[in-house]
Amino acid sequence: MKDVLTSDYDFENHWNNAYKKTPVNSLGWYEENPAPSLELIETCDVSKDSIIFNAGVGAATIIEYLLDEGYTNIVVNDIAAAALTELKNTLTKHKNSEVKFIVDDLTNPIELLKLKNVDLWHDRAVLHFFTTEVQQKAYFDLVRKVLSPNGYVILAEFNLEGAKKCSGLDVFNYNEEMLQERLGDEFKLLKSFNYTYTQPSGNTREYVYTLFQRTA
Ligand SMILES: C[S@@+](CC[C@H](N)C(=O)[O-])C[C@H]1O[C@@H](n2cnc3c(N)ncnc32)[C@H](O)[C@@H]1O
Repeated sequence: MKDVLTSDYDFENHWNNAYKKTPVNSLGWYEENPAPSLELIETCDVSKDSIIFNAGVGAATIIEYLLDEGYTNIVVNDIAAAALTELKNTLTKHKNSEVKFIVDDLTNPIELLKLKNVDLWHDRAVLHFFTTEVQQKAYFDLVRKVLSPNGYVILAEFNLEGAKKCSGLDVFNYNEEMLQERLGDEFKLLKSFNYTYTQPSGNTREYVYTLFQRTA
């Protein structure tokens, strides 16, 4: 296998293959009921037409839940076009035209730079794959660029006790203080909790869930 620490590793190909090889509901990160994310989204109490941006969404069930709850301005992104194709196939009850799909790299964004006034940024199990300072800086610069002045940020990543790898890739583990430091003083932590997620295989993964609000 190619050395994934080299900067020329083809992450786009890696993730496309992951979604092409394995049925969505057998993927190690498949979450039938995204209850912890939904709990934090509910806390934000944003209006149904708020822009909710889902970074590295994959084929996550949360989009179906949000559509069911009546949110009308959902934007989803992934580096892997195959992931978004799978997501479209799962949105059986809803028209795909209700969702805006953006294939782009969060750590080297082009299309994503056009986003603005995002009311809520949601990331589950994406940021922790960005192991270099360059990738992390690009990610947090993007959050700050596209988020509205009072916008919310939900980051759910492997915590410090959590796994060190996922999908064969190294991960960078977080706690709430580290996420606060990366976001900076203009963000206030509103809620945080550790959460044990059970994979389809029955194995568990330790996450930290955080909700921040931009205050300046
Ligand atoms: C572990 S999966 C989590 C998927 C989804 N958030 C969920 O909770 O089911 C990580 C996701 O991040 C996406 N991803 C990885 N690197 C990315 C990047 N640089 N830009 C955008 N998406 C990326 C992958 O394609 C994959 O869908």
